Amino acid sequence: MTIERTFSIIKPDAVGRNLVGDIYHRFENAGLQIIAAKMLHLSREQAEGFYAEHQGKPFYDPLIKFMTSGPIMVQVLEGEDAIRRHREVIGATDPLKAQAGTIRADYASSVQQNAVHGSDSTTSAEREIAYFFTGEEICPRTR
Ligand code: TYD
Ligand code: MG
Repeated sequence: MTIERTFSIIKPDAVGRNLVGDIYHRFENAGLQIIAAKMLHLSREQAEGFYAEHQGKPFYDPLIKFMTSGPIMVQVLEGEDAIRRHREVIGATDPLKAQAGTIRADYASSVQQNAVHGSDSTTSAEREIAYFFTGEEICPRTR
């Protein structure tokens, strides 16, 4: 059993549609604990730094525009096999390929406006958590 931490974003489309509670419910039902969370409205610089790996791709500029278009929720989730489990609850990037019952199958309106982000590896989880949270902002369970 490996307890992991992963990084998660509820994107502007989903926050704008009042889906924060619904999506948190899905995380908690999947055995993921929210151990840090806050609402942010990203600057262009913050969004560009976060998505640096996609710089130069055709979808990069529109993605930055979308991610800065409204408030987001960022959170750290902890649990057994958290990185894979979170990606499972989220579903495939393209909502048309996402399994029924996943967040993206239910709420994404396009590949770009796909409701949520989830780290894809331990390396990206560590980088992404540190990008948005200080150690003091992370509050693991005490009971
Ligand atoms: P990616 O890391 O490939 O997907 P995921 O979010 O599932 O890890 O891409 C990051 C985001 O970039 C993706 O959530 C939405 C956007 N994107 C597009 O707008 N068009 C595309 O063709 C791809 C691949 C991604
Ligand atoms: Mg990705």
